[in-house]
Amino acid sequence: MSQLFFEAFEGLNRMAPGSRDTTRRALALLESGFSPDHILDIGCGTGTVTLHLAEAFPRAHITAVDNHRPFLDRLGQRAREAGLDGRIRPLCRDMLDMGLPEGSVDLIWSEGAIYLAGFDRGLRAWTPLLRPGGVMAVSDACWTTAQPDPVIRAWWTAEYPDITTVEDRLSQIEQAGCTVLDHFIQPVTDWSEEYYRPLQANLDKLALKYPEHPEAASVLAALQEEIDLHRAYGHQYSYGFFLIKPGQAR
Ligand SMILES: C[S@@+](CC[C@H](N)C(=O)[O-])C[C@H]1O[C@@H](n2cnc3c(N)ncnc32)[C@H](O)[C@@H]1O
Repeated sequence: MSQLFFEAFEGLNRMAPGSRDTTRRALALLESGFSPDHILDIGCGTGTVTLHLAEAFPRAHITAVDNHRPFLDRLGQRAREAGLDGRIRPLCRDMLDMGLPEGSVDLIWSEGAIYLAGFDRGLRAWTPLLRPGGVMAVSDACWTTAQPDPVIRAWWTAEYPDITTVEDRLSQIEQAGCTVLDHFIQPVTDWSEEYYRPLQANLDKLALKYPEHPEAASVLAALQEEIDLHRAYGHQYSYGFFLIKPGQAR
C-alpha cells in the first residue's frame, strides 16, 4: 500500500467508521456477567477500540493483531500512557495467519476489518479460535436500502463487491454454522463525524503539502471521492454490527 495512503491516516485514532457509543452498544449486548480472560482484536489499527475493550474488561488480556507495524507501535505507546500495556499484546501478523491455537480466545472483536479477509472467510477462519461459550463481534459494510442508487452501487462493487444486505449477512453467518446473538446498524455519524471529519482535515493538509505530486493527487482524489459519495449516499449503506457465537441455536 502507498506510503501516502498511510500518511492520509496519520494521527487518526480511528481507521474505520465507528464510535465509543457503538462499541459500548455492542458490549451491552453481551450476556451480563460475560467476563473474557482472553480477547482478540483483529485489524486493531492504532488501538482505539482495543483500549475501550481493556477498560470494559479490567481483568482481560488482549491480543491486538495488525499487519502494519507503525500502527501497533502507536497502540503500544497509547497502552503504556494509559497504564494498560501489561494487558495488551500487540501482534504483527496477517489476520488469516495469526498463529494462535484453536479454542484459546473468549472474545473476538473486529471493527471495520473483516472485509480485508472477506466476511465469510473471516468468519470461518476466526470462529475456531473461540473457546466454548466464546463470542465474536464484527462490523462490516451492509446496504441499508433495498435499491441503492446505481452510482453508489458501482463504487462499492469496485471497492468491496462483498457488500450485501443485513439479511444476507445473517444467512452467511447461519450457513457458516453460527448463531447471531444480536445485530444493529451503526449510525451515520460513525462515518461522518467520527471517521470522515478527521480524515478530511488530514486530506486538506496533505493537499497543501503536496501541491504537485501525481501520486499524492491520486491517493487524495480516491479518498475524497469516498467522502463525497458518503455525503450524497451515506443513508443507503452503513456498517452492520454482528454478535455471533459458533454453533446453531437449538
Ligand atoms: C479499516 S482499519 C480498522 C482499524 C480499527 N479496527 C479501527 O476501527 O480503527 C483495518 C486495519 O486492518 C489492518 N490490516 C489490513 N490488512 C491486514 C491483514 N491482512 N492482517 C492484519 N491486519 C490487516 C490495517 O493495517 C488496519 O489497521
